[in-house]
Amino acid sequence: MADLITLLSERLAAAFDTVAGTAGNDPVVRPSDRADAQANGALPLAKQLGRNPREVAEAVVAAAELDGVATAEIAGPGFINLTIDDDFLGATVASVAADERLGIARQASRRIVVDYSAPNVAKEMHIGHLRTTVIGDAVVRMLTFLGHDVIRENHIGDWGRPFGLLIQYLLDEAAAGTIDLEHLPLHALDDAYKAANTRFAEDPEFAERGRARVVLLQQRDPETIALWTRLVEASEDYWTELYGKLGILLTNDDVVGESFYEDLMPKVVQQLHDAGLLQESDGAQVVFPPGFTNRDGDPLPLIVRSSAGAFTYATSDLACVADRTGRLGADTLVYVVGAPQSQHLAMVFAVSEMAGWLTPPAEAVHVPFGNVLGPDRKMLKSRSGDPVRFIDVVDEAITRGVAAVAEKNPELVGDARESIGHAVGIGALKYFDLSTDRIKDYVFDWDRMLSFDGNTAPYLQYAHTRICSLFRRAEVDRATVRSLAPQVREPAERALAVRLLGYEAAVLETVERYSPHRLCTYLYELSSDFTAFYEHCPVLRAESDEIRLSRLALSDLTARVLAHGLGLLGIEAPEQM
Ligand code: ARG
Repeated sequence: MADLITLLSERLAAAFDTVAGTAGNDPVVRPSDRADAQANGALPLAKQLGRNPREVAEAVVAAAELDGVATAEIAGPGFINLTIDDDFLGATVASVAADERLGIARQASRRIVVDYSAPNVAKEMHIGHLRTTVIGDAVVRMLTFLGHDVIRENHIGDWGRPFGLLIQYLLDEAAAGTIDLEHLPLHALDDAYKAANTRFAEDPEFAERGRARVVLLQQRDPETIALWTRLVEASEDYWTELYGKLGILLTNDDVVGESFYEDLMPKVVQQLHDAGLLQESDGAQVVFPPGFTNRDGDPLPLIVRSSAGAFTYATSDLACVADRTGRLGADTLVYVVGAPQSQHLAMVFAVSEMAGWLTPPAEAVHVPFGNVLGPDRKMLKSRSGDPVRFIDVVDEAITRGVAAVAEKNPELVGDARESIGHAVGIGALKYFDLSTDRIKDYVFDWDRMLSFDGNTAPYLQYAHTRICSLFRRAEVDRATVRSLAPQVREPAERALAVRLLGYEAAVLETVERYSPHRLCTYLYELSSDFTAFYEHCPVLRAESDEIRLSRLALSDLTARVLAHGLGLLGIEAPEQM
């Protein structure tokens, strides 16, 4: 049991139950400045029992099993301040240090699909894809570490009318000799994608051919599909490069695009019909999930087949739920998708439940996020006014990271500078995104994200390298201090030790809420505690060998937790910079 707070919570809860004479009395136990931990809960219980709160708190302390607790003091109107016994604290730290998983137990494994990134074929990824990609990847890493069977899905936009038009446009241009179908880089496809739409609006003959091509695509005409496949492959190559630079786990094997659900959609609609859920509304086939209304209070339909007979984005998402719970046997579906799609997804989940594709305990969770803003607090735009290209942001992060490392340590040259600079730049970009509460918007700011001060990746990475260099100077092999129970006597040692023991709770809380910023906050606090410890407690010049080793043990565990925590966020922790 790595997490002392959890342990204390359980023991106090039992004592509360004893005093109350009923089960289910859960005090809130938190780390506290005034002691190692503070519990409240005596006040409500006292009210319930009609007794004095301090007296109730005293009765709880008397009833609690408190070995390992040095003092339990009653404060204010019934708070219980707990101070852990030094030796118990040291021994608990040692048990975490001896554990490869740093004290974090595996959870009962669930099969979890995480839907994230989701770019569109033949289009540049833009800054709008940053958050889903980075948050989704951190969620995947954390769930995997906790022992879940995680299936990544990249729900790409690869089907429908725009692709029919694009293919017709490309064929026309190739016939006219202005485009080489053998050479279709993504930026050219992106241009063609836009041009095809313009031409569709302006040229009726092209519009005619375009519509016919959309039908050919839907009928899987071989020539059309051959070109379509090339578009998908060109896009995949592009994403592979971007994901590679950014350190994202998604591969081509994780691509399950809208086209995949094409065959399933008629079945889904049929099943809705058979279940008696389909209704007609303005010529369209719709389902009305209870509880969804528009501004006027009228029921809101989820359209599964338009009046023109076409399936919709909603239909493909219903097929997607059915496929994930059915074929894949998943019990948790996580959607890392922007906040504007909240209602769409909520309605898809509701209809899926009605249709029996999403039966509790299986659940679907939308993990929404806010926008990336420019300095004017509007959507971040490039100088030309277009959305900023994702790949440009990634490349600039790397360039800036290399420059930051070069400035910090001019002696670091060559490959080391490049690779560490890469880790710092990408780390800065990811961490800046992950460290703000995901539901909020944030203002994109290179200088702040690359700063070596404050709650940033470079600060944490640097803290990590300082500990690595401490060991190089000490000439001590880090593995040797891992079996040692550190002595925690000084307040700064205690504060660091207690913080280290909070790692499990920080990770679990982060995963439970799909909120990476909680883990970021924890890592930042850990690093601040380490700085305070390092200032007040000499390590290499400690008064005895024993204390020196003990402090090295605390330092080693700090570095491991920092590196591990950053790893869960998809960020590297170099050993020097
Ligand atoms: N491609 C979609 C978009 O750009 C996002 C897909 C999200 N996933 C899903 N299952 N709907 O809006």
